[in-house]
Amino acid sequence: MTAESRERLLLVDDDEQACRMLGEVLERQGYEVVRALSVDQALQSIDAGPARFDAILTDLRMPGSSGLDLVREARQRDPQALIFVLTAFGDAAAAGAAIRAGAYDFISKPYDLTALRQAISQALQRRSRNASLPHATEGKTKGGGPVIVGNSPAIIEVMKTVGRVSQSQATVLITGETGTGKELIARALHSYSDRSANRFVGVNCSALAEGILESELFGHVRGAFTGAAATRSGLFREADRGTIFLDEIGDISAPMQTRLLRVLQEREITPVGSDSPVKVDVRVIAATHQDLEELVKKGRFREDLLYRLDVVRVELPPLRERQQDIPLLINHFLGELARQHKRDPVALDPEAETLLLRYSWPGNIRELQNVLERAIVLAAQGVIGPEHLPADIQEAASQVEAVPAQAGPSHPLLPLAEVEKRHVLAVLRETGGNRERAARILGISRRTLVRMLQRWGPSAPK
Ligand SMILES: Nc1ncnc2c1ncn2[C@@H]1O[C@H](COP(=O)(O)OP(=O)(O)OP(=O)(O)O)[C@@H](O)[C@H]1O
Ligand SMILES: [Mg+2]
Repeated sequence: MTAESRERLLLVDDDEQACRMLGEVLERQGYEVVRALSVDQALQSIDAGPARFDAILTDLRMPGSSGLDLVREARQRDPQALIFVLTAFGDAAAAGAAIRAGAYDFISKPYDLTALRQAISQALQRRSRNASLPHATEGKTKGGGPVIVGNSPAIIEVMKTVGRVSQSQATVLITGETGTGKELIARALHSYSDRSANRFVGVNCSALAEGILESELFGHVRGAFTGAAATRSGLFREADRGTIFLDEIGDISAPMQTRLLRVLQEREITPVGSDSPVKVDVRVIAATHQDLEELVKKGRFREDLLYRLDVVRVELPPLRERQQDIPLLINHFLGELARQHKRDPVALDPEAETLLLRYSWPGNIRELQNVLERAIVLAAQGVIGPEHLPADIQEAASQVEAVPAQAGPSHPLLPLAEVEKRHVLAVLRETGGNRERAARILGISRRTLVRMLQRWGPSAPK
């Protein structure tokens, strides 16, 4: 690689040591690296030139302006800017906000250095091939929208996708077990979009009988059927310039599938009893707890309809597969519910917390919310104990003899120091970068943990 063709990276982190060390690693990779310790410095470097930066890697939380401000400013100067946000405060909300502001990717610390290097070089290669990069362009609507809690890798991925597609018109298919947050995500997509000033119309397709569903969705003319005394515009037209949310899409009948397919193809509806179609401008989001591919195989769902719906897929994993979100959700719901019930803050005793963490949550987040609501009402003293939890949660836990050992790859022939490092980083990842909790779990002081992280260098979180 010649000196002139070296790709230029801008590294932004208020932690000088972390910035220097990551910079050295990337320089060894052949990049030209410019460092900045604040957003202001970064913008000066961008403005100073001489050439543009091929990619910018920025920390999120810094004194003064944040990494999010940098994303916006840098994209304004250069709409093609390729920005990676790196943060130890990686949660669903931050990931969604960074992507919506126009970041190319959002990476939680501690990150895997090899993976980070790959991500950078892949993005640069894609851009040099002139392929279009999946950048979001921030809409006019900022803030607002439902609160989405969690810091598991799964929910962070979900929010990245939501951030990337919220401004587009693409049809989205949301899948997941009951209570995993499908409707919440649909509402988030709507509220982050330029359609948010218009309506979000939800329809539960399984709750309505076939004939009724059709006239509910597409409307009907007067006298179209017995009881149709007046003309009705239908939910698609009510959602005009907004979003329609077709919940339990797996339950619609074969004739309705055919009609819906036509609506998605033609972007027009025909009210029942009418023969003049009407144009509609509606973004469609569909959701189901069923496996639509399986239904297609069984001949119960049209493949072409699945294809039309499944332009962007958001899969919400069950709560038992994102256990690290449970403590955050508990906190969130305890706060919300105490407010709703006009109660003082309610605490959770450690034994009850252990039970909640061990339970498998077949009803997912909705079940957790219901269990906490009941517990808050029962816990007159302001502390939720095991006795305030449903019997099956108390019993399910007593059947589990021991908490399963920390999952993860086994390392047959590794030096002790390497095993230690991997384990500490795994715990830190599980706690979402919370050093206080990680140190407590590991049985070491916070200072010891910080020293270890410093020793391990830039791939560790600051
Ligand atoms: N990540 C999250 N953060 C905060 N609240 C959440 C989250 N996910 C779900 N919830 C809450 O959990 C409840 C269930 O979510 P939602 O109704 O969106 O699930 P669903 O998948 O549509 O469920 P169902 O299959 O029962 O219709 C709601 O009260 C929602 O606000
Ligand atoms: Mg739902």
